[in-house]
Amino acid sequence: MVNVDKFIEKSIKELKQIDGKALLALSGGVDSSVCYVLAKKAIGELLVPVYLDTGLMREGETERIKQLFPDVIVIEAEERFMSSLKGVEDPEEKRKVFGETYIRLLEDVARKEKVEYLIQGTIYPDFIESIGGIKSHHNVRGLPDVYEFKKIIEPLRELYKDEVREVARAIGLPEEISERMPFPGPGLAVRILGEVTKEKVEVVRKATKIVEEEIIKYQPWQTYAALLGKGTGVKGDVRVYGWIIAIRAVESRDGMTAKAMELPYDVLFKIQSRLTSEIPEVTRVVYDLTPKPPATIEFE
Ligand code: XMP
Repeated sequence: MVNVDKFIEKSIKELKQIDGKALLALSGGVDSSVCYVLAKKAIGELLVPVYLDTGLMREGETERIKQLFPDVIVIEAEERFMSSLKGVEDPEEKRKVFGETYIRLLEDVARKEKVEYLIQGTIYPDFIESIGGIKSHHNVRGLPDVYEFKKIIEPLRELYKDEVREVARAIGLPEEISERMPFPGPGLAVRILGEVTKEKVEVVRKATKIVEEEIIKYQPWQTYAALLGKGTGVKGDVRVYGWIIAIRAVESRDGMTAKAMELPYDVLFKIQSRLTSEIPEVTRVVYDLTPKPPATIEFE
């Protein structure tokens, strides 16, 4: 475990070397929020924090970001993401398309704001998984290919998630951020099997809210809903063809391995009941028991 105070001191010193504007893509998660606070302390007004509203975030996320970071530049980009993801079914292709769109949009901001530096919230496991070819992370080696920065600074590159959380607590970030579950860069897109459509995003967003509300008190490493595909059901005496939702709830230390939580049956049953009654388009609910490996935490 790192020495938190020394880490904070060292990072601020490193960030103070920045002598021009620096771009930071904020997601509202713990990693980029920690970078925001460290960078704000180090370079103040030179920091250009940007949040891309991809249309693939959880409910209320954009409003939440605006409240937490009043100086953030919000880029509305839902249409751009939806059209770039049209017809894309393959998981790795989806990540690549998402990453490409994300990077192009950030590049536009970088050019407009004339920024020279890039601060990224990349943490140690992101490097390991990207370099090992396990999956593509848009925040690893993305923007540098298309925009010339004087320097890229990754203050969290040596930290694991639990260490980032310690730093977050030490710099006074609210619990809502320091203890927040990880959320994948491509957002709800990797929790929808096959092509991403607005209808599917709406369903999975509502389902995620319900699953989080019911499971968060069991302190999972991560819990969410995924949309698997369609299955038949009977609603109000009518046979319907609706969405199948998977509930995922895992325990983990660093996201590299994980175990499905042993949740009480009545909790799972209640979630099933809420999902099928509160979201009319859902006909079926399953619980994913698979550990990582052989599965991953996300579905894609
Ligand atoms: P997997 O699904 O590979 O995920 O077992 C491991 C952890 O990484 C998160 N994850 C991501 N985080 N950008 C991120 O910043 C991404 O593209 C991404 N994909 C997955 C996932 O939520 C889990 O905590």
